[in-house]
Amino acid sequence: METTVTSPTTPSSPDTTHAVGQPPSSPDETPSAHVARARSAEIEAQIALDPSRYRVLTGDRPTGALHLGHLLATLESRVRLQDAGVDVVVVVADYQVVADRDEAGDLPAVVREVVLDHLAAGIDPDRSTMFTHSAVSALHQLMLPFLSLVTVAELERNPTVRAEAVAAAARQERSMSGLLLTYPVHQAADILAVHGNLVPVGTDQLPHLETTRTVARRFNQRYTAAQPYFAEPEALLTASTTVLGHDGTKMSKSRGNALELRATEDDTVAFFRRARTDSIRHVTFEPQERPEVANLLRIGAHFAGTTPQALAESVGAAGAGPLKAVVTEAVVEGLRPLRERRRALADDAGAVVREVLARGNARATALAEGTLTDVRELMRTVY
Ligand code: TRP
Repeated sequence: METTVTSPTTPSSPDTTHAVGQPPSSPDETPSAHVARARSAEIEAQIALDPSRYRVLTGDRPTGALHLGHLLATLESRVRLQDAGVDVVVVVADYQVVADRDEAGDLPAVVREVVLDHLAAGIDPDRSTMFTHSAVSALHQLMLPFLSLVTVAELERNPTVRAEAVAAAARQERSMSGLLLTYPVHQAADILAVHGNLVPVGTDQLPHLETTRTVARRFNQRYTAAQPYFAEPEALLTASTTVLGHDGTKMSKSRGNALELRATEDDTVAFFRRARTDSIRHVTFEPQERPEVANLLRIGAHFAGTTPQALAESVGAAGAGPLKAVVTEAVVEGLRPLRERRRALADDAGAVVREVLARGNARATALAEGTLTDVRELMRTVY
């Protein structure tokens, strides 16, 4: 096994730690979005052939109930992977909420909503695992040796960390916390603790994943060069377009412009009534020039099972009012099963969520403790 210690900005060394039968990724390119996208297509094909080869580790910080942006960007793909037969593990990253803010909010209530959103969207606790950071001690113990494998300079170069630090400063909250700086290593612990080998991400999260790959590679090199222990997880790129809120900026809880999945039909109607369009009457799909109209077309097309272009042509000269009516109808219909499942859970929600997390936390703990036992042996810290 030939590996060299590389920084995240230099090309990665050839992978020799892939699961059996998995072709190595391109050895001489940085993991640009382009490469990751091509590789993702290959992975999709392999999932169709043998889903048992993959364990997905993914998650969210519980900062609010999930919204339409989450559904289109990640939640639907988690359900799709689960239904394809992949082992899907979802971390509710409660310890990371305070990475860039002082107030965690009402965590028990938010965690409950996040779990309910997953169940309503189709995550099945008999097949998938949901766990909270705070319940799985062994995961965090792994972070200490992992921290020794990266430099502060590398962490400071991480574009996602930088962007998040800038955003936090813009909200005048505070300067970068140690937890935010080391966030990518914590994420590496999430993934490697359960031996996740596939991580669905948007292009903005690729640098985080590269840190995980670096940690895995350097751990192997330092402690088990003869036989690599950690596989380097791969990215599965998710839909690249950002869902916009009613004000035309990225949909997010903190901007107050989101359509929550748990919202009522009336809320949905009101959301699209408020949604910004532009002054051109004729509806066309031009994402660069007309982002707000393109956003409505994408959302409507997604739920109506058509393309944004076709939807634009069908509305055409009728204009923004009829476009909004069509999109509202498609979203209300498309979210109906999810909302019905959520209502069916409502009576017993507290107990259901406790049960899902108890099972998920037990499984994640078993996996992470197994990994920690192996790591302690490899590091020769068993006395
Ligand atoms: N970084 C993700 C977010 O901010 C949450 C997350 C935590 C995560 N650990 C992870 C995602 C591991 C993928 C893999 O939403």
